[in-house]
Amino acid sequence: MRFIGAMLAGAAALAFSGAALAQGPIVVKFSHVVADATPKGQGALKFKEVAEKLLPGKVQVQVFPNSQLFGDAKEMEAVLLGDVQFIAPSLSKFDRYTKKIQVFDLPFLFDDIAAVDRFQQSAAGKALLDSMKNRGLQGLAYWHNGMKELSTNRDKLTRPEDVKGLKFRIQASDVLEAQFRALGANPQKMAFAEVYQALQTGVVDGQENTWSNIYSQKFHEVQKTIAVTNHGVIDYMVVTNAKWWDGLPADIRKGLQQAMDEATAFSNKLANELNERDRKRIEEAGKAKIQPLSKEDVAAWRKAMEPVWKKFEGDIGKDLIEAALKSNQ
Ligand code: LMR
Repeated sequence: MRFIGAMLAGAAALAFSGAALAQGPIVVKFSHVVADATPKGQGALKFKEVAEKLLPGKVQVQVFPNSQLFGDAKEMEAVLLGDVQFIAPSLSKFDRYTKKIQVFDLPFLFDDIAAVDRFQQSAAGKALLDSMKNRGLQGLAYWHNGMKELSTNRDKLTRPEDVKGLKFRIQASDVLEAQFRALGANPQKMAFAEVYQALQTGVVDGQENTWSNIYSQKFHEVQKTIAVTNHGVIDYMVVTNAKWWDGLPADIRKGLQQAMDEATAFSNKLANELNERDRKRIEEAGKAKIQPLSKEDVAAWRKAMEPVWKKFEGDIGKDLIEAALKSNQ
């Protein structure tokens, strides 16, 4: 009996693998909005490399950079509809799905990316990966980019009063909207793929981003000054469709998770280096001026943006803000 049972199980397994082979590998699409030569771009390519090595013939990963497949406006829906399996939006772009993630957008909350990392790896940070499951999204990892700098098409950019009345492109985030309103500026939510042209044609006067994004999108060619404000963070959460993920055969899910872990370590280690490299390239290009700020200048920006914290404390939760603050020590 046992022998026949084993034979049947074996036949079923053979039939299954035969069917799987006939169908070919599972195609996994990873869509994102930045260039390959950025921390996220490199992370996605690493994920492909490791996943295909760990799951040969079982999985094929296709990476679509530069909003080629889906841009900001459509990528979340695309994951929920199963048109793409992985995306890694900036943490600023999730506020329609959970208010808690807005904590990452509070200006001057984190001293640096090391502090951001400590918070992401804490129990409170890890819990956020599961906070959108009820909306169909499963967070798998945090990926770093870096601290944000502020740029405009004006010569002077040292103090908050220098941006009064200016128009700024922002990511789709209510916190960032409040941040620019606190400065007396006019924020405009806009997809990443549209920013260069908006800066070039003067639809907006400025934007905030990391060195690697500024360089790879050539924003420095259409801006006059980039102030080293480090006032906020651009990091990512890699998310997938929770139902699809839970429904994967266990060995595939395990391999993809391992590939994700390796890609995460790789990209997070690289992020600082790429931003430093691109800061130098911007300097060498000599198009936009890089404006260092004194301690007093930074304090003035911090003070001007401070009201934002109170405004969002209720939505985010005081305890989460405190947990994030602790990561600075
Ligand atoms: C932006 O929209 O400015 C960036 O967050 C894009 C990205 O994914 O880095």
